[in-house]
Amino acid sequence: MKLRSLLFVPADSERKFAKANGIGADALILDLEDSVATSRKAFARGAVRELLPGGARNWSFLVRINPLDTGLTLEDLAAVVRPGLDGLLLPKVNGIEDVDLIANYVDALEIAAGVPPGHVRLLTVATETPAAMIGLSGYARRNPRLVAMTWGGEDLSAALGALTPREADGSWTFPYQVARAQCLFAAGAAGAAALETLYVDFRDDKGLAETCRIARRDGFVGRIAIHPDQIATINACFTPSVADLEHARRVVAAFAAQPDVGTVGIDGKMYDMPHLVAARRTLASVGEGSSNG
Ligand code: COA
Ligand code: MG
Repeated sequence: MKLRSLLFVPADSERKFAKANGIGADALILDLEDSVATSRKAFARGAVRELLPGGARNWSFLVRINPLDTGLTLEDLAAVVRPGLDGLLLPKVNGIEDVDLIANYVDALEIAAGVPPGHVRLLTVATETPAAMIGLSGYARRNPRLVAMTWGGEDLSAALGALTPREADGSWTFPYQVARAQCLFAAGAAGAAALETLYVDFRDDKGLAETCRIARRDGFVGRIAIHPDQIATINACFTPSVADLEHARRVVAAFAAQPDVGTVGIDGKMYDMPHLVAARRTLASVGEGSSNG
Protein backbone atom coordinates (compact mmCIF):
# COMPACT_ATOMS: atom_id res chain seq x y z
CA MET A 1 0.00 0.00 0.00
CA LYS A 2 1.56 3.28 -1.15
CA LEU A 3 1.16 5.84 1.64
CA ARG A 4 2.80 9.18 0.90
CA SER A 5 -0.32 11.33 1.15
CA LEU A 6 -3.55 10.43 2.98
CA LEU A 7 -6.40 12.93 2.75
CA PHE A 8 -9.07 13.11 5.43
CA VAL A 9 -12.58 13.53 4.05
CA PRO A 10 -15.53 13.90 6.47
CA ALA A 11 -17.64 10.84 5.62
CA ASP A 12 -20.92 12.75 5.68
CA SER A 13 -19.80 15.14 2.93
CA GLU A 14 -20.42 13.71 -0.52
CA ARG A 15 -19.33 17.04 -2.00
CA LYS A 16 -15.88 16.75 -0.41
CA PHE A 17 -15.52 13.12 -1.50
CA ALA A 18 -16.27 14.15 -5.08
CA LYS A 19 -13.67 16.89 -4.77
CA ALA A 20 -11.06 14.54 -3.25
CA ASN A 21 -11.47 11.76 -5.81
CA GLY A 22 -8.75 11.87 -8.45
CA ILE A 23 -6.62 14.65 -6.96
CA GLY A 24 -3.60 12.37 -6.54
CA ALA A 25 -3.75 11.36 -2.87
CA ASP A 26 -2.38 7.86 -2.29
CA ALA A 27 -5.25 7.27 0.13
CA LEU A 28 -8.52 8.89 1.10
CA ILE A 29 -9.53 8.48 4.74
CA LEU A 30 -13.28 8.71 5.07
CA ASP A 31 -13.73 9.98 8.61
CA LEU A 32 -16.43 8.65 10.91
CA GLU A 33 -14.81 10.09 14.04
CA ASP A 34 -14.15 13.69 15.04
CA SER A 35 -15.22 15.48 11.86
CA VAL A 36 -18.69 13.89 12.04
CA ALA A 37 -21.19 15.09 14.66
CA THR A 38 -22.72 12.40 16.91
CA SER A 39 -26.13 13.03 15.34
CA ARG A 40 -24.64 12.27 11.88
CA LYS A 41 -22.75 9.02 12.67
CA ALA A 42 -25.40 6.66 11.28
CA PHE A 43 -25.83 8.78 8.17
CA ALA A 44 -22.05 8.87 7.65
CA ARG A 45 -21.77 5.06 7.88
CA GLY A 46 -24.41 4.72 5.20
CA ALA A 47 -22.60 7.30 3.07
CA VAL A 48 -19.34 5.32 3.30
CA ARG A 49 -21.13 2.18 2.12
CA GLU A 50 -22.45 4.06 -0.90
CA LEU A 51 -19.00 5.43 -1.71
CA LEU A 52 -17.02 2.17 -1.44
CA PRO A 53 -15.24 1.94 -4.79
CA GLY A 54 -15.14 -1.04 -7.13
CA GLY A 55 -12.45 -2.25 -9.52
CA ALA A 56 -8.76 -1.54 -9.80
CA ARG A 57 -7.44 1.76 -8.45
CA ASN A 58 -4.07 3.36 -7.79
CA TRP A 59 -5.25 4.75 -4.44
CA SER A 60 -6.53 3.23 -1.20
CA PHE A 61 -9.93 3.71 0.35
CA LEU A 62 -9.58 3.93 4.13
CA VAL A 63 -12.04 4.65 6.92
CA ARG A 64 -11.29 6.19 10.30
CA ILE A 65 -13.66 4.47 12.72
CA ASN A 66 -14.67 5.63 16.20
CA PRO A 67 -12.54 4.57 19.20
CA LEU A 68 -13.34 1.49 21.25
CA ASP A 69 -14.51 3.43 24.32
CA THR A 70 -17.30 5.19 22.40
CA GLY A 71 -19.43 2.09 21.91
CA LEU A 72 -19.64 2.94 18.20
CA THR A 73 -16.82 0.74 16.93
CA LEU A 74 -18.72 -2.48 16.21
CA GLU A 75 -21.43 -0.70 14.24
CA ASP A 76 -18.75 1.15 12.27
CA LEU A 77 -16.93 -2.08 11.47
CA ALA A 78 -20.09 -3.97 10.55
CA ALA A 79 -21.05 -1.16 8.16
CA VAL A 80 -17.74 -0.64 6.36
CA VAL A 81 -15.86 -3.94 6.18
CA ARG A 82 -17.04 -4.72 2.62
CA PRO A 83 -15.48 -5.15 -0.80
CA GLY A 84 -13.80 -1.84 -1.72
CA LEU A 85 -12.43 -1.12 1.76
CA ASP A 86 -8.62 -1.24 1.87
CA GLY A 87 -7.91 -0.22 5.43
CA LEU A 88 -9.05 1.19 8.76
CA LEU A 89 -7.46 4.03 10.69
CA LEU A 90 -7.86 3.40 14.40
CA PRO A 91 -7.88 6.55 16.54
CA LYS A 92 -7.16 6.75 20.28
CA VAL A 93 -5.83 3.21 20.45
CA ASN A 94 -4.19 2.38 23.78
CA GLY A 95 -1.72 -0.08 22.27
CA ILE A 96 -1.19 -3.25 20.30
CA GLU A 97 -3.93 -5.06 22.28
CA ASP A 98 -6.51 -2.76 20.68
CA VAL A 99 -5.03 -3.48 17.26
CA ASP A 100 -5.21 -7.23 17.92
CA LEU A 101 -8.84 -6.96 19.05
CA ILE A 102 -9.94 -5.00 15.96
CA ALA A 103 -7.96 -7.39 13.76
CA ASN A 104 -9.95 -10.30 15.24
CA TYR A 105 -13.26 -8.57 14.47
CA VAL A 106 -12.05 -7.87 10.94
CA ASP A 107 -11.07 -11.55 10.48
CA ALA A 108 -14.74 -12.52 10.88
CA LEU A 109 -16.24 -9.57 9.03
CA GLU A 110 -14.05 -10.12 5.96
CA ILE A 111 -15.34 -13.67 5.65
CA ALA A 112 -18.94 -12.55 6.14
CA ALA A 113 -18.52 -9.88 3.43
CA GLY A 114 -16.59 -11.98 0.91
CA VAL A 115 -13.44 -9.88 1.25
CA PRO A 116 -10.19 -11.85 0.75
CA PRO A 117 -8.84 -12.71 4.23
CA GLY A 118 -6.18 -10.22 5.32
CA HIS A 119 -7.04 -7.61 2.67
CA VAL A 120 -8.13 -4.91 5.13
CA ARG A 121 -5.02 -3.26 6.61
CA LEU A 122 -4.86 -1.38 9.89
CA LEU A 123 -3.28 1.99 10.65
CA THR A 124 -3.19 3.59 14.10
CA VAL A 125 -3.10 7.06 15.55
CA ALA A 126 -0.72 5.77 18.16
CA THR A 127 -0.18 8.62 20.65
CA GLU A 128 -3.59 10.12 21.42
CA THR A 129 -4.03 8.81 24.97
CA PRO A 130 -1.65 8.80 27.96
CA ALA A 131 -2.02 5.00 28.19
CA ALA A 132 -0.94 4.73 24.56
CA MET A 133 2.25 6.62 25.34
CA ILE A 134 3.32 4.16 28.03
CA GLY A 135 2.32 1.14 25.93
CA LEU A 136 4.16 1.92 22.69
CA SER A 137 6.76 -0.78 23.27
CA GLY A 138 4.01 -3.38 22.75
CA TYR A 139 4.02 -2.62 19.02
CA ALA A 140 7.25 -4.60 18.76
CA ARG A 141 5.05 -7.74 19.05
CA ARG A 142 3.68 -6.79 15.61
CA ASN A 143 0.33 -7.52 14.02
CA PRO A 144 0.36 -8.67 10.39
CA ARG A 145 -2.48 -6.30 9.44
CA LEU A 146 -0.73 -3.20 10.81
CA VAL A 147 0.88 -1.23 7.97
CA ALA A 148 1.26 2.31 9.29
CA MET A 149 1.26 4.44 12.41
CA THR A 150 0.79 8.13 12.84
CA TRP A 151 0.68 10.37 15.88
CA GLY A 152 -1.21 13.38 17.16
CA GLY A 153 -0.59 15.98 19.85
CA GLU A 154 -3.97 17.69 20.16
CA ASP A 155 -5.97 14.83 21.70
CA LEU A 156 -3.06 13.81 23.95
CA SER A 157 -2.71 17.36 25.19
CA ALA A 158 -6.44 17.56 25.91
CA ALA A 159 -6.30 14.24 27.78
CA LEU A 160 -3.38 15.47 29.89
CA GLY A 161 -4.99 18.82 30.67
CA ALA A 162 -2.21 20.82 29.03
CA LEU A 163 -3.01 24.41 28.13
CA THR A 164 -1.55 23.93 24.67
CA PRO A 165 0.78 21.45 22.96
CA ARG A 166 2.37 24.24 20.92
CA GLU A 167 4.98 26.93 21.30
CA ALA A 168 4.09 30.48 20.25
CA ASP A 169 5.59 29.83 16.79
CA GLY A 170 3.34 26.80 16.24
CA SER A 171 6.01 24.15 16.85
CA TRP A 172 5.36 21.29 19.28
CA THR A 173 6.33 21.61 22.94
CA PHE A 174 8.66 18.99 24.41
CA PRO A 175 6.11 16.36 25.54
CA TYR A 176 4.64 16.23 22.01
CA GLN A 177 8.06 16.08 20.39
CA VAL A 178 8.53 12.98 22.53
CA ALA A 179 5.23 11.56 21.25
CA ARG A 180 6.35 12.18 17.66
CA ALA A 181 9.71 10.51 18.19
CA GLN A 182 8.19 7.56 20.06
CA CYS A 183 5.74 6.99 17.21
CA LEU A 184 8.69 6.84 14.83
CA PHE A 185 10.50 4.26 16.98
CA ALA A 186 7.38 2.17 17.60
CA ALA A 187 6.57 2.11 13.87
CA GLY A 188 10.11 0.92 13.17
CA ALA A 189 9.73 -1.86 15.75
CA ALA A 190 6.29 -2.77 14.38
CA GLY A 191 7.53 -3.04 10.80
CA ALA A 192 5.04 -0.30 9.89
CA ALA A 193 5.35 2.96 7.97
CA ALA A 194 5.60 6.10 10.12
CA LEU A 195 3.34 8.91 8.92
CA GLU A 196 3.75 12.54 10.01
CA THR A 197 0.75 14.18 11.64
CA LEU A 198 -1.37 16.76 9.86
CA TYR A 199 -0.49 20.40 9.29
CA VAL A 200 -3.49 22.48 10.36
CA ASP A 201 -2.66 25.73 8.58
CA PHE A 202 -3.82 24.58 5.15
CA ARG A 203 -3.08 27.90 3.41
CA ASP A 204 0.61 27.84 4.48
CA ASP A 205 2.24 25.76 1.76
CA LYS A 206 5.76 26.85 2.69
CA GLY A 207 5.35 25.73 6.30
CA LEU A 208 3.85 22.45 5.11
CA ALA A 209 6.80 21.80 2.77
CA GLU A 210 9.40 22.65 5.42
CA THR A 211 7.83 20.40 8.05
CA CYS A 212 7.50 17.61 5.46
CA ARG A 213 11.20 17.96 4.69
CA ILE A 214 12.03 17.55 8.37
CA ALA A 215 9.66 14.59 8.67
CA ARG A 216 11.21 12.79 5.71
CA ARG A 217 14.68 13.50 7.06
CA ASP A 218 13.68 11.91 10.37
CA GLY A 219 12.23 8.73 8.82
CA PHE A 220 8.56 9.44 8.21
CA VAL A 221 7.51 8.18 4.78
CA GLY A 222 4.26 10.05 4.29
CA ARG A 223 1.81 12.47 5.85
CA ILE A 224 -1.83 13.01 6.68
CA ALA A 225 -3.57 15.86 4.81
CA ILE A 226 -6.74 17.73 5.69
CA HIS A 227 -7.18 19.80 2.53
CA PRO A 228 -6.83 18.90 -1.17
CA ASP A 229 -4.35 21.75 -1.69
CA GLN A 230 -1.84 19.91 0.56
CA ILE A 231 -1.57 16.77 -1.60
CA ALA A 232 0.83 17.92 -4.31
CA THR A 233 3.30 19.30 -1.76
CA ILE A 234 3.18 16.18 0.39
CA ASN A 235 3.62 13.85 -2.60
CA ALA A 236 6.57 15.88 -3.83
CA CYS A 237 8.28 15.95 -0.43
CA PHE A 238 7.93 12.21 0.13
CA THR A 239 9.03 11.19 -3.37
CA PRO A 240 12.79 10.78 -3.86
CA SER A 241 14.22 13.27 -6.35
CA VAL A 242 16.07 12.17 -9.51
CA ALA A 243 19.32 13.09 -7.74
CA ASP A 244 18.35 11.01 -4.67
CA LEU A 245 17.65 8.01 -6.91
CA GLU A 246 20.86 8.38 -8.89
CA HIS A 247 22.86 8.58 -5.69
CA ALA A 248 21.09 5.52 -4.24
CA ARG A 249 21.80 3.54 -7.42
CA ARG A 250 25.48 4.47 -7.19
CA VAL A 251 25.69 3.29 -3.59
CA VAL A 252 23.99 -0.02 -4.38
CA ALA A 253 26.17 -0.50 -7.48
CA ALA A 254 29.38 0.22 -5.52
CA PHE A 255 28.57 -2.49 -2.97
CA ALA A 256 27.44 -4.91 -5.70
CA ALA A 257 30.75 -4.43 -7.47
CA GLN A 258 32.67 -5.35 -4.30
CA PRO A 259 30.61 -8.04 -2.55
CA ASP A 260 33.38 -8.87 -0.08
CA VAL A 261 33.78 -5.42 1.45
CA GLY A 262 31.71 -3.74 4.16
CA THR A 263 32.68 -0.22 3.30
CA VAL A 264 33.31 1.68 0.07
CA GLY A 265 34.44 5.14 -1.00
CA ILE A 266 32.38 7.26 -3.41
CA ASP A 267 33.49 10.80 -4.36
CA GLY A 268 35.84 10.92 -1.37
CA LYS A 269 33.25 9.87 1.24
CA MET A 270 32.93 6.66 3.20
CA TYR A 271 29.79 4.53 2.79
CA ASP A 272 29.00 1.50 4.93
CA MET A 273 26.05 -0.73 5.78
CA PRO A 274 23.60 1.93 7.07
CA HIS A 275 24.10 3.86 3.82
CA LEU A 276 23.43 0.73 1.80
CA VAL A 277 20.25 0.07 3.80
CA ALA A 278 19.09 3.66 3.21
CA ALA A 279 19.90 3.48 -0.51
CA ARG A 280 17.95 0.23 -0.92
CA ARG A 281 15.03 1.71 0.97
CA THR A 282 15.00 4.77 -1.30
CA LEU A 283 14.96 2.56 -4.40
CA ALA A 284 12.32 0.24 -2.93
CA SER A 285 10.05 3.25 -2.33
CA VAL A 286 9.80 3.72 -6.11
CA GLY A 287 9.56 -0.01 -6.83
CA GLU A 288 13.23 -0.65 -7.69
CA GLY A 289 14.66 -3.72 -5.99
CA SER A 290 13.57 -4.52 -2.46
CA SER A 291 14.50 -2.86 0.82
CA ASN A 292 16.42 -5.91 2.02
CA GLY A 293 18.45 -6.54 -1.04
N1 COA B 1 -11.53 16.78 1.23
C1 COA B 1 -12.18 17.08 0.10
N2 COA B 1 -12.53 18.33 -0.27
C2 COA B 1 -12.18 19.30 0.58
C3 COA B 1 -11.50 19.06 1.78
C4 COA B 1 -11.19 17.72 2.10
N3 COA B 1 -10.56 17.41 3.22
N4 COA B 1 -11.29 20.23 2.39
C5 COA B 1 -11.81 21.19 1.61
N5 COA B 1 -12.35 20.62 0.52
C6 COA B 1 -13.01 21.31 -0.60
C7 COA B 1 -14.11 22.25 -0.08
O1 COA B 1 -15.33 21.55 0.05
C8 COA B 1 -14.15 23.26 -1.17
O2 COA B 1 -14.87 22.73 -2.28
P1 COA B 1 -16.06 23.55 -2.96
O3 COA B 1 -15.40 24.78 -3.48
O4 COA B 1 -16.57 22.64 -3.99
O5 COA B 1 -17.02 23.83 -1.87
C9 COA B 1 -12.70 23.37 -1.62
O6 COA B 1 -12.08 22.15 -1.23
C10 COA B 1 -11.97 24.54 -1.01
O7 COA B 1 -12.11 24.45 0.39
P2 COA B 1 -11.76 25.71 1.32
O8 COA B 1 -12.79 26.76 1.16
O9 COA B 1 -10.36 26.07 1.07
O10 COA B 1 -11.85 25.09 2.78
P3 COA B 1 -13.16 24.91 3.67
O11 COA B 1 -13.26 26.10 4.57
O12 COA B 1 -14.33 24.57 2.82
O13 COA B 1 -12.81 23.62 4.53
C11 COA B 1 -11.97 22.38 6.37
C12 COA B 1 -11.86 23.66 5.56
C13 COA B 1 -10.84 22.33 7.37
C14 COA B 1 -13.32 22.34 7.07
C15 COA B 1 -11.85 21.17 5.37
O14 COA B 1 -10.62 21.30 4.73
C16 COA B 1 -12.03 19.83 5.97
O15 COA B 1 -13.17 19.39 6.19
N6 COA B 1 -10.92 19.08 6.20
C17 COA B 1 -10.96 17.74 6.69
C18 COA B 1 -11.32 17.75 8.16
C19 COA B 1 -11.23 16.37 8.74
O16 COA B 1 -11.59 15.37 8.13
N7 COA B 1 -10.73 16.29 9.96
C20 COA B 1 -10.56 15.05 10.60
C21 COA B 1 -9.14 14.76 10.81
S1 COA B 1 -8.38 15.86 11.93
MG1 MG C 1 -8.72 13.69 16.99
